[in-house]
This record gives sequence, C-alpha cells and structure tokens, in this order.
Amino acid sequence: MLQCDASGHPKKGSEHGHEMVAIVTLSRRHGGCVRSGVLAALGAASWLSASVVAATAAGAPAGDPAAGRAAFGTCQACHSTTPGRNGVGPTLDDVVGRQAATVGGYNYSPAMRATHITWDGASLNRFLSNPQSVVHGTKMFVAAPNPTTRQNIIAYLATLK
Ligand code: HEC
Repeated sequence: MLQCDASGHPKKGSEHGHEMVAIVTLSRRHGGCVRSGVLAALGAASWLSASVVAATAAGAPAGDPAAGRAAFGTCQACHSTTPGRNGVGPTLDDVVGRQAATVGGYNYSPAMRATHITWDGASLNRFLSNPQSVVHGTKMFVAAPNPTTRQNIIAYLATLK
C-alpha cells in the first residue's frame, strides 16, 4: 500500500509496479496522497489502471469500462475481442499498446498499413471520433462521436489483455 510521510506525500521507494505508478499518477492529479480507504473505494486495481491509461493519455476524464463494454455493441458487428478471430474488422484483443495494422491474417487497407499510429488512449480517442479524418482512406467508417461513450469504450479496450 502506498505510504505517506507527515506532509501527506507519497514516500520515495514505495512506488513499485504498474498499479503503483497508476495510483501515484492519480494521486498527483488530485494533488495529494492516496490513503488506503480511498484506494478501497476506488475498487479493483485492474479497473484503476484501465481508467487511468485512458484518462492520462487522452487528457480527458477516465472512462468506465463496464459502460464501455455495453457500448462496444456498436463495434461488435465488425470486431471480435477474441485473439485471432477477425471479422469485417480485425480483432481488438490487446489493441491498446499495439501498432496499427499489425493483426496477423487481417487484410488492412493501404491507408491503415501506411499509418504508424500506436493505439493508446490519445490516438484511439482521435481515431474513434472520426476514423476517416484521422486515417484518410481507412475501411472503417463508423465513429463513436459521443466523448463520454468514447472514453468508456477506450477504458473497456484497455481491459482486453
Ligand atoms: C462497419 C464495421 C466496423 C465497425 C462497426 C467498427 N469498425 Fe473498427 N474497423 C473496421 C475495419 C474494416 C477496420 C480496418 C480498417 C482499415 O484497414 O482501414 C477497423 C479498424 C479498427 C481499429 C484499428 C485496428 C488495428 O489493428 O490497427 C480500431 C482500433 C477500431 N477499428 C476500433 C473500433 C471501435 C472501438 C469500434 C466501435 C466504436 C469500431 N471499430 C467499429 C470496421 C468497423
């Protein structure tokens, strides 16, 4: 658990591992030290890291992965979340952190192959707001125009590891 010194700042040396980094990021954003009660209220660490990935990368409020999972219904017509199972679009399993157009066995458009985007909170936020204006000539023409829904979907995608 993250420890605090007398002034309420995280102690040096108490930050270790991915989740701790995420928690420290969150506590800095709120300008203070996160105590165990707050951490418990925040819920599971996996939820926390997923939301923080989306929030810090996009500079927008953290999305809600559960709401994102429900909203993902609009993507599911074309995208599975199962490794190796491509449909009209490539599988979105493990999409956060990977380079665009790198799913094996999927026939990407030349436009998508030519981008050198790495999918993270910020790039997904831009792409999903208007795919064809971000990747000119992409085969994907469906957007997620609502910013809250988009953040929720991105938070959900970040859980697909
Ligand atoms: C009508 C079908 C369709 C829908 C609905 C759709 N997509 Fe796509 N998506 C595609 C296609 C086709 C591609 C491949 C684009 C290309 O090669 O130009 C793609 C590509 C992507 C990529 C890039 C993947 C990679 O491997 O580089 C992401 C990320 C993505 N879609 C996310 C979403 C999300 C999130 C939604 C829901 C909001 C969604 N898509 C809805 C068809 C769709």
